[in-house]
Amino acid sequence: MREDLETIFASEEKLQERVRALGAQITRDYQGKTPLFVGVLKGCFIFMADLVRACDVMCTVDFMVVSSYGDGTTSTGAVKIVKDLSENIEGKDIIIVEDILDSGNTLSYLKSYMEARKPASIRIVTLMDKPDRRTADVTADYVGFEIPDAFVVGYGLDYQQKYRNLPYIGVLKPEIYS
Ligand code: IMP
Ligand code: MG
Repeated sequence: MREDLETIFASEEKLQERVRALGAQITRDYQGKTPLFVGVLKGCFIFMADLVRACDVMCTVDFMVVSSYGDGTTSTGAVKIVKDLSENIEGKDIIIVEDILDSGNTLSYLKSYMEARKPASIRIVTLMDKPDRRTADVTADYVGFEIPDAFVVGYGLDYQQKYRNLPYIGVLKPEIYS
């Protein structure tokens, strides 16, 4: 383990097992449909790549880039769309793919943003969920792991844009960011 990490929260094997289970659940729920997975970059990129391969359904993918964070470890509250959807989502079954649901600011904003474009349905899948830190009224339909209030990195998740390439998820030592 790297010395800037306190513990490993989820190993590669544990991540693969959980993502496969989420994929199986989504496969069951979307039989006969062609969902559009909308990934929230950059954090989703590894999770989403594994998730869509674990889903045995016809589907399409799109991405959005939003910024809500700055370089710290707590949300600034404001959400800005840096890259919008590249297609019309009216009448589509949308599955928003997030790396982590924290305050909920990002997803509650994105959900109402998409609802206004009249999709047939919207569901949220998040790899990680920190329910204790929720301030906005939003819940995920599919959750990989619930975690307590700690700052995690790896498998797409960053601290100051680094650590995204770790194949596992680790808890960052607080002295790294305080
Ligand atoms: P929210 O808007 O507060 O729910 O924040 C969601 C975003 O904050 C996520 O998409 C992440 O980019 C970032 N974030 C929140 N907690 C963590 C963490 O523990 N590690 C890395 N990024 C995090
Ligand atoms: Mg993110």
